[in-house]
Amino acid sequence: MAIKYVPEPFRIKSVEPLKMLTREERESKIREARYNLFNLRGEDCYIDLLTDSGTNAMSQEQWAGIMRGDEAYAGASSYFKLIEAAGDIFKYGFFQPVHQGRAGEKVLFPILLGPGKFAISNMFFDTTRAHVELAGARAIDCVIEEAKDPSRRIPFKGNMDIEKLERTITERGPENIGLVVMTVTNNSAGGQPVSMKNIKETAEVCRRYQLPFSIDAARFAENAFFIRRDEPGYSTKSIKEIVGEMFSHADMFTMSAKKDAIVNMGGLIGIKDAENPIVLKVKANCISFEGFTSYGGLAGRDLEALAIGLYEGIDLDQLSYRIGQVEYLAAKLDDAGVAYQSPVGGHGVFVDAAAMFPHIPYNEYPGQVLGVELYKEAGIRTSEIGSYMLGNDPDTKKQLKADFEFSRLAIPRRVYTQAHFDIMAEAIIAVKGRAASIKRGYRVIWEPPILRHFQAHLEPIE
Ligand code: F0G
Repeated sequence: MAIKYVPEPFRIKSVEPLKMLTREERESKIREARYNLFNLRGEDCYIDLLTDSGTNAMSQEQWAGIMRGDEAYAGASSYFKLIEAAGDIFKYGFFQPVHQGRAGEKVLFPILLGPGKFAISNMFFDTTRAHVELAGARAIDCVIEEAKDPSRRIPFKGNMDIEKLERTITERGPENIGLVVMTVTNNSAGGQPVSMKNIKETAEVCRRYQLPFSIDAARFAENAFFIRRDEPGYSTKSIKEIVGEMFSHADMFTMSAKKDAIVNMGGLIGIKDAENPIVLKVKANCISFEGFTSYGGLAGRDLEALAIGLYEGIDLDQLSYRIGQVEYLAAKLDDAGVAYQSPVGGHGVFVDAAAMFPHIPYNEYPGQVLGVELYKEAGIRTSEIGSYMLGNDPDTKKQLKADFEFSRLAIPRRVYTQAHFDIMAEAIIAVKGRAASIKRGYRVIWEPPILRHFQAHLEPIE
C-alpha cells in the first residue's frame, strides 16, 4: 500500500550537481572496479547509497559552527562545547572525542579484550568485529532468532537473545568475557532497533556476572525514535529523555558520530563513571593513536559541528522525516513483492537478495549480484551485507555463511529527494524482473586478510 512521503523539514540552500552515465559507461566502470563497489569513483554514482556514514548534509548552523571552530591544540572552546552537549544528552562523566567510530573501538577494546577473551553483542558491525579480533579476542553474536527471517514482521528485531547471552557467558566462563556490546540500531540485522526492555535486561545480565556493558551508539537517535513509536510507555517522552534512559543502563559507549550526529567526520567514547580506572587508559591510548585528549584526531571545527549535530540528530521532526523516507521506499517494494528485512529499519532498506536470487548460493554472493545490477541499472551504489562482507573464519580461513544476503540501500541524512526514492524503487523492481536470467554470481580473485569487502577483486562466474 502506497504511503505518503513525509515532506522535508528544511529547504535546500546549496546544491551539488549529479551526473548520470550511460548504461555502457556504467558497465565498463564496474568491470574496471573489479565488481567491487568501493572501487568506483563517487562521481560515477548517480545515487550513492553505499553508506549513511559521513555522507550526511550538514545544516547552516553546523556550517556556521565550522567557522567558529577553535583550533587550539589543547583546551579549545569547541571541545568544551562538545563535552557539554554530550553530557547534557548522554549524562556520562567522561567523553573522549575520536576521529570516527572504529577509532573509538581501537582505543577502548584492547583495554578490555585480549587473546582467550570473548566479546558478545546482539550483532557486531564488521569494523567492530575486526577490532575485537585485532585485540586478539573472538566476537560472538547473540541476536534473537526472529531477526534471521527477513519476512517476519515484529518490532525490535535487533534485540539481544537474553537466554543465549547468558548461556554463552556460562559456557565460555564469565572470566573469559571481556565485554558485552549492544549495537543500536542493529546495523547488520537491517538497522533494526533494540527495545528499552531488552537494553535493561542485558544490563541486568552484565551486572550479575560483573561484565562491562558498552553501547555501540552509531544510530542511537533512530533507536530512540523506534522506542518512542513502538514500545509501550514511551510515546509521550522526548527523544532526549529516551536517549538518557537508554544510556543509563550501560557503563560506556563507542560512537561513530558520522551517522546520527550528522557530521562528515567524528566519533566519541563515553564512560559513565569519570572515576572508572578505564578513563586513564582511554586517555593514554587516545594520545598515542588519535591525538591529545581535547581533540582526539579531529579539527576544532569538527568538534564544533559535532556539538551542534548531536542536538539536530535527536530532533523529532528530523527523525520522523528520515524514517518516513525509508518507509516510503519499503512500501513501494511491498507493492512490487520485493522481499527486504522487514519491518523496515532505521537507516536504509536491506533488500533480501537471497530471496531475489534463490538460485545463487551464498558463496557466489547474491547481495553483491544485486548491488552490481543496481549500479548497471540506474547508477545506484549500495553495499553488500552478507557472506561476502562476513568473509572467512579467522581460525579455519574458510568462507563463512552469513545469516542474511542483503543489498543495503543506506540513506544519507537530508540528501536525497522523493524523486530519487522513486528511482531507487524502479531500479530494484526492474532488476527483480530479470533476476531469473542472471544465472551465476561472483568469485573472489584477490582478497586482503581482514575486512576484505572494502578491497577485494571479484569476477563474474561464467
Ligand atoms: N558501529 C556501527 C554499528 C557501524 O555501523 C559503524 C560504521 C561503526 C561502528 C564504525 O564507525 O565508520 O565511523 O569507523 N558503519 C558504516 C556503515 C561504515 O556503512 O554502516 P566508523
